[in-house]
Amino acid sequence: MTLLVTGGAGFIGSAAVRAAIARGMRVVNVDALTYAACSNNLKNVQDNPLYSFVKADIRDAAALSQVFEAHSPTAVMHLAAESHVDRSIDGPCVFVETNVTGTFNLLEAARTHWVSQGKPRTFRFLHVSTDEVFGSLGEAGKFSETTPYAPRSPYSASKAASDHLVRAWGETYGLPVLLTNCSNNYGPYHFPEKLIPVVIINALAGKDIPIYGTGENIRDWLFVDDHADALLAVLKGSAANRSYTIGGNNEVRNIDLVKTICALLDDKRPTGSPYADQIAFVSDRPGHDERTAIDASRISAELGWRPSVTLHEGLEKTVQWFLDNEDWWRAILARDGVGTRLGTIAA
Ligand SMILES: NC(=O)c1ccc[n+]([C@@H]2O[C@H](COP(=O)([O-])OP(=O)(O)OC[C@H]3O[C@@H](n4cnc5c(N)ncnc54)[C@H](O)[C@@H]3O)[C@@H](O)[C@H]2O)c1
Repeated sequence: MTLLVTGGAGFIGSAAVRAAIARGMRVVNVDALTYAACSNNLKNVQDNPLYSFVKADIRDAAALSQVFEAHSPTAVMHLAAESHVDRSIDGPCVFVETNVTGTFNLLEAARTHWVSQGKPRTFRFLHVSTDEVFGSLGEAGKFSETTPYAPRSPYSASKAASDHLVRAWGETYGLPVLLTNCSNNYGPYHFPEKLIPVVIINALAGKDIPIYGTGENIRDWLFVDDHADALLAVLKGSAANRSYTIGGNNEVRNIDLVKTICALLDDKRPTGSPYADQIAFVSDRPGHDERTAIDASRISAELGWRPSVTLHEGLEKTVQWFLDNEDWWRAILARDGVGTRLGTIAA
């Protein structure tokens, strides 16, 4: 298999690339290397003969055609996206350009390639999406493959639009597409603007640990390597034109998540006073989803996938990784425009 991965220098993409190479797949990573990318995420595979990298922007249709011609992939795993909700509130335009138009370009390049190869039934176009396309849950219920779409932020609306395009290319042109909608990921190489890294980094720096609103919002968290494993399971085992909701069965309130991380830091890097004393409540994100939760029974029943770690085990690994890899996150924080509070415009 030659797997074309888009966004492979990002958080989840790099986990997927490392996992695919570990399983002997040939991987072509197409990434524009935006602010969110970090080539160091791939230092363990960059010299592997199975790995190649193409710096290209999915907004550039001609560049994508060249990649398909040069590498003739047998499958695509599409992760390249603008992914930060807060950034989408401040600047939605690039979210539409990359997430919607970029996905359209990639679908067209894949379709042209697939037709040129005689429409192989084994070809797969796996689109990696988010549970945020489903909006916000009340106190009960879970998102599943049949949940209606109800996105509430520019980010989730752009991802919803891209999901619709993918399904339409499957229905209209017969392109063998797959779609996954996953809950919040966490783990090593998580970009330092996202909640869990912010908590760890601010705690270590002796700064306030910001929690949006009251901290009552509930998320279902999935360890990133388990997500990569799920994506490869879908690619390998699913029939075409199928979708899967993926989650860790780990619902937790933000405030409780933050307190757990503080307790892990109290054990691993004690300072004499509890890190939880640094928690500070800040103005909420506009359109903040109250609760998200995933029913992952389809992927479990059909493909035998389930998460390998509990939330506590995954958080323990994550906290330890951030303690051991200070150079990695300090280099990213030193980049222009990274690390300031974003997405408060309508608050
Ligand atoms: N992070 C999560 O919790 C989560 C959960 C579910 C689904 N997802 C989805 O998974 C995918 C990856 O998320 P992530 O958190 O790893 O994102 P990320 O922001 O860490 O990485 C995105 C990658 O895409 C690249 N990219 C961005 N715009 C590009 C463009 N125009 N052309 C080519 N490359 C471009 C960036 O350089 C970066 O390497 C996204 O599609 C996201 O919607 C993320």
